[in-house]
Amino acid sequence: MKGIITIDGPVASGKSTLARLLAKRLNFLYLDTGAMYRAVALQAQRYGVNLTEIPTLWKLCRNLDLDFRPDGEKTRLYMGEEDISMAIRTPEIDMLSSEISAVKEVRDAMTDLQRKIGRAGNLVAEGRDMGTDVFPNAEYKFFLTAPIEVRAERRYIERVNRGETVSLDDVKKGLKQRDYQDETRAIAPLRPAKDARIIDTTALRPHQVLEKILEEVSPGGR
Ligand code: DC
Repeated sequence: MKGIITIDGPVASGKSTLARLLAKRLNFLYLDTGAMYRAVALQAQRYGVNLTEIPTLWKLCRNLDLDFRPDGEKTRLYMGEEDISMAIRTPEIDMLSSEISAVKEVRDAMTDLQRKIGRAGNLVAEGRDMGTDVFPNAEYKFFLTAPIEVRAERRYIERVNRGETVSLDDVKKGLKQRDYQDETRAIAPLRPAKDARIIDTTALRPHQVLEKILEEVSPGGR
């Protein structure tokens, strides 16, 4: 699939920052698929829907009215006319989105939506299964990674900067649990596609990761 670049990886591997920078540089659309699973989790939480209530979850997903709207350097996510960009970034939604993403009906609905968005091409799609399941024929595939200690530290700093009171140890435990759930679920688990280029971001700043990727997708610069 020409014009589709996939960026997958575990929590805090640097994929969101990179995907956003890359999309901006190439003038492509940036698709944050984690935010979509987070929106499903938020709705389920608000309506008190249990993960075992499959028909209700199915309906909820199929009726989800999501819209990514650009806002300067950022993208905001709207559900109907409500800006849910902040509401989907809580520790509860971190965990619930991981749990809910293991439900087949939820994955089917989100995959359909993501492929619909991908039809127009010129897309940087970021998530867990972009290169393996959603866009297996993508033109370029990348998988970002870093050791748990590095990723936990990054997420810890992010949350402290947001004004939250957390301990590094709790952040690390949460990350481990989410990685484990995402890697071991039966459908579309987190893993690199066979043809993905794996990049360890431990010692790299975001712009250095960007340069590495640009070397591959647009030698000589776009
Ligand atoms: O990227 P994120 O942390 O915002 O994603 C939240 C959860 O959504 C993640 O723990 C697993 C799930 N997810 C998924 O299963 N598949 C994707 N393509 C993206 C996210």
